[in-house]
Amino acid sequence: MKNFVLRGNLCTSRTRNCFQWVPHGYLVCEEGRSAGMFAELPERFADYPLQDWGDCLILPGLVDLHIHAPQYAFRGTGMDLELLEWLNERAFPEEERYADLEYAREAYGIFAENMKASATTRACIFATRHRQATELLMDLMEATGLGTMVGKVNMDRNCPDGLREGTEESLQETERWLEEIEGRYERTEPILTPRFIPACSDAVMRGLGRLQRDSGLPVQSHLSENQEEAAWVRELCPWAGCYGEAYEGFGLFGGDGQRTVMAHCVWPTAEETALLRARGVFVAHCPQSNTNLCSGIAPVREYLDMGVRVGLGTDVAAGCGESIFRAMADAVQVSKLRFKLAEGAGRPLTLEEAFFLGTKGGGAFFGKVGSLEAGYEMDAVVVDDRGLARPGGLTLRERLERVVYLSGPEHIRAKYVRGREIFVR
Ligand code: GUN
Ligand code: FE
Repeated sequence: MKNFVLRGNLCTSRTRNCFQWVPHGYLVCEEGRSAGMFAELPERFADYPLQDWGDCLILPGLVDLHIHAPQYAFRGTGMDLELLEWLNERAFPEEERYADLEYAREAYGIFAENMKASATTRACIFATRHRQATELLMDLMEATGLGTMVGKVNMDRNCPDGLREGTEESLQETERWLEEIEGRYERTEPILTPRFIPACSDAVMRGLGRLQRDSGLPVQSHLSENQEEAAWVRELCPWAGCYGEAYEGFGLFGGDGQRTVMAHCVWPTAEETALLRARGVFVAHCPQSNTNLCSGIAPVREYLDMGVRVGLGTDVAAGCGESIFRAMADAVQVSKLRFKLAEGAGRPLTLEEAFFLGTKGGGAFFGKVGSLEAGYEMDAVVVDDRGLARPGGLTLRERLERVVYLSGPEHIRAKYVRGREIFVR
């Protein structure tokens, strides 16, 4: 179905502070893009097939700027440690298993199926260092119909022998991965993925910087998540004024049209915030992960005030699930704790702001994505909130707020990515 119309209660972020509602409105899809939201269907679209979703809410698809597919299998367990111990004791041993393609097929199959069933339409995904398992994950994500960026992880130091790549090997395997997948996918893109500075030698970082320059590929990594980690990076890269400058020194920190997303950014220096802004680097705010690993609370209000680009991430398995609705609620909640507990913290995030971050804010990393407005790629979800019943009427905004706080995949009736139907149920 190339051109079609969805009818329902339309809601999208107009700006970060304001929703645009069209009650019982018409959302027109033409050639994979929104042709607009209308209260009355214009005559010129009268011939398009129409799906009437009654009183359901129709929202832009949600965007997850940071998730680890190989950690999905142990989500919801092992939340008793902070970052560096958690990596060594929980994440790395699990990731070692992806050398086994049979295990990868089973585990990534569950991940892909659940991502497909969720409200998420776009995601930036970490795989593991393993080239073949990464290609398998890309095949599976392509089959879901979602729009994703998937990265083979680079790591050649400070990790167990079973996960550590040789320095040359790390770069060669990355190049081979890119050659092998060239032209293979319509909606699954590669993204360069140095794990984080402590796990990547200078030589690997320099090599990836060169590869980025030659290929123009996007970049994802982790930044200033935990204080111990940040102190370690100061030792590893004493020449860098801040952690972000270490990435920048290797040519992997935005600027010059390079699309870069950094997860967490909980502990920026003033210099680092200015650099994030100046280089147009996206912050993937992962509030649940930051709570589970006791990392802290990212200064999202300050980022927004400063003009830093921000979206949301689930960071499974430091975050326990793939729901970006849950990430919106968590973002509001942790911002309230920061408002009360951190000196000088700005006011908490609003529902409008959290919804913006999980749609249009993060969507900008993918281009014209994250909104139902005309010209945006037609990523949409139909939410049936009748299962969240209560006596008495609610405004549409109240219904949306309850969807954010209470809904699960069972409330998603249909999902579309670039105008393609992913499922209807
Ligand atoms: N920093 C480096 N690797 C990881 C990871 O897998 N998860 C999180 N939360 N932080 C990281
Ligand atoms: Fe992460």
